[in-house]
Amino acid sequence: MTATRSPGPALAVVGATGAVGSVVLRMLSERADVWGDVRLIASARTAGRMLTVRARETEVLALTEDAFDGLGAGDVALFLTPAEVSARWAPVVTARGARVVDQSSAFREDPEVPLVVPEVNGDAVRSLPRGIVAGPDCVTAAMIASLGALHAEYGLADLAVSSYQAASAAGRAGSEALRRQVSLVAGTSLGEQPGDVRRAVGDDTGPFAGPLALNVVPWSGELCEGGWSSHELAVRAQTRRILRLEELPVAVTCVQVPVLTGHSLTVRARFDAEVDAGRAREVLDAAPGVVLVDDPAAGEFPTPSDAAGTDPAWVGRVRASLDDPCGLEFFVCADNLRQGAALNATRLAELIAAEFATFTL
Ligand SMILES: NC(=O)c1ccc[n+]([C@@H]2O[C@H](COP(=O)([O-])OP(=O)(O)OC[C@H]3O[C@@H](n4cnc5c(N)ncnc54)[C@H](OP(=O)(O)O)[C@@H]3O)[C@@H](O)[C@H]2O)c1
Repeated sequence: MTATRSPGPALAVVGATGAVGSVVLRMLSERADVWGDVRLIASARTAGRMLTVRARETEVLALTEDAFDGLGAGDVALFLTPAEVSARWAPVVTARGARVVDQSSAFREDPEVPLVVPEVNGDAVRSLPRGIVAGPDCVTAAMIASLGALHAEYGLADLAVSSYQAASAAGRAGSEALRRQVSLVAGTSLGEQPGDVRRAVGDDTGPFAGPLALNVVPWSGELCEGGWSSHELAVRAQTRRILRLEELPVAVTCVQVPVLTGHSLTVRARFDAEVDAGRAREVLDAAPGVVLVDDPAAGEFPTPSDAAGTDPAWVGRVRASLDDPCGLEFFVCADNLRQGAALNATRLAELIAAEFATFTL
C-alpha cells in the first residue's frame, strides 16, 4: 500500500461482510469521498470474496497483522465486529498510529475511550487518549439525538424506555433466523394454541431467546444481577455517558419483535422544568438527525418499515404526560443498521480524518 498509496487517509473496514459492514460499504459509495485507499477485512471464512465499494470490486482480506500494513497516523479503521474481535485487534491498529472507530461493546465503558454520537457530543473526538472512539448500541443511538435536544431545553431528570428491536440487531444471523422462522409459520393458523409456534420453529431460534416469528421476545443480551439484561444495563450506562448525566435514573426494557430492520422505542422522559408539548415538538423538529412525523389525526406517525433504509431518527406520538406536568412521552423509529451503527461509525471516521489529517494532497 505504501508504494502506490492514493491521496487521502486510508480506511480499513473490519467486518465488511457483516450486516453493518454491508451498509457501511453502500454509504462509502453514497457519501462525499474523503478516503484514499479503502481496504475490506473480515474473517478467514469470507476472505477472498469480492465486494463493491466506491464502484470498485475489492477483495476481502483476512484479519491478520498483515491486513493493516501501511496504516499509520491520519488513517482510520472501522471495527464492525463482535466485541471480542474489536478488543483483540483495535490495539494492533492503534499501535501503528492509526485511529479506530469501534461499533461493538468492547470499549464503550472505558473512561479513556469517548462514546460519541456526532449530533450530541461530536467534540469528544478531539481527544482520543487510546486512539479509539466508540459508537453506542442501536437502542441508545435511536433516541439520543431527541433526548439530547430536549435535555438542552428542559433538563432531563428521569427516563423510562422500552425497545421494540428488529432482528437485524443480532446481525446477519438475526435476519436469517427471522426469515427462516417466518417461512415455517407463514400461511398457517399457528399462534392460536399454546406452544404451537415454538414447535413449528423448533429448538433453533437463532440468536433469540425464543421463537420470533408471530411472537415477541422480552430479552436481549446476557443475564445480569437483579434479572436485568446486559443490553438494558448498557442502554442506561451509555445514555448517562453521552448526555453527561452520570446519576440519571433510567429504566429500560429491551424486547425483540419480528421486524427485519428498524428499531422502535417508547420513551417517557421527565424534566426539571414543565414541558409544553407544542414547544417540545418544535425542539424535536429542529434537532439535527431527527425528523418529526406527528399527525395522528391524519394517521401520520413513524413505523419501523418507514425508517428502514433512512438516515434520521423519526419521532412521533409526542404527548405531554397525563399525570405529570414535567413529563413527555414519544415514539421513535430508526434503522438500527444505518442510523444505529453504520452512519454513526462512518461519520465518526470522517470527523477523525478531518481532525487528525496529516496528508498533503
Ligand atoms: N446489527 C446492528 O443493528 C448493530 C447496531 C449497533 C451496533 N452493532 C454492533 O456492530 C458489530 C457488527 O454487528 P453486525 O450486526 O454487522 O454483525 P454480523 O452481521 O454478525 O457481522 C460480523 C462481522 O464481523 C466479522 N467477524 C466475525 N468474527 C470475526 C473474526 N474472528 N475475525 C474477523 N472478522 C470477524 C464477520 O466476518 P465474516 O463474514 O467473515 O464472518 C462480519 O463481517 C457488533 O459488535 C454489533 O454488536 C450492531
